Amino acid sequence: MTSHALNAGQHIEYIESMKVRAILFDAYGTLFDVHSVALLAEQLFPGQGERLSLLWRDKQIEYTRLVTMSPEPDTHYRPFWDLTRAALQFSAERLGLTLDAAAEERLMNEYRHLSAFPENRDVLAELKRRGVPAGILSNGNPEMLDVAVKSAGFADFLQHVLSVHTTRRFKTDPAAYALGPVAFGLPAREILFVSSNCWDAIGATWYGYSTLWVNRSGAPLDRLGIEPTRIGRSLRDVFDCLPRPAARTAAAPSAP
Ligand code: LAC
Repeated sequence: MTSHALNAGQHIEYIESMKVRAILFDAYGTLFDVHSVALLAEQLFPGQGERLSLLWRDKQIEYTRLVTMSPEPDTHYRPFWDLTRAALQFSAERLGLTLDAAAEERLMNEYRHLSAFPENRDVLAELKRRGVPAGILSNGNPEMLDVAVKSAGFADFLQHVLSVHTTRRFKTDPAAYALGPVAFGLPAREILFVSSNCWDAIGATWYGYSTLWVNRSGAPLDRLGIEPTRIGRSLRDVFDCLPRPAARTAAAPSAP
């Protein structure tokens, strides 16, 4: 039985049993809206913005998997930024669009400063207020993550910004997911891995994390015979995955 099918009492018991002590967010697609580039893409290529944005994202992720699954992943590894550019070039060509250098730079620059989803800042601020350690674990290379985190104003809320770059393996390689437990000094099960990418939530579940798939668009679950620990619709659903704060049993004695 999956946790989202539990009744209220069972649900609380289940959440307590997850023992979540830290939260790790995926970046692209989860904190930052990768499809916010569609607006500029539409201006540059009227009628093709959404198609370009979707194909660009799919190709980007496909390239990460290809290099990591190659016989020599160390050799074939290229930073996420470079694969993102390569995926843009491919996608434009695939759609028969003329991507000149200026348009390519404008789209890449847009990718550097992606919009954050509206609720994210409040969620990160509330986690900090509650003392729940939070971080990012992303395929993004450190430079691009640094710019994205700073331009969204998230830097103060994150204890760790972990990039797979150090491992030269992209998610869903176990070496990439292994960064989280090492950084927090916690077993994967006690870390809630949050992603809006179903494949990423599943990869993290296989690795051993407690997971929340933030299914903003109501997408179907990937059919791989496994479900994330929880499924939600907004980043706010992380609060349903945290143990409830201990109830205060007695009022503090007043000062004499
Ligand atoms: C990331 C990819 C999944 O941020 O977008 O890791």
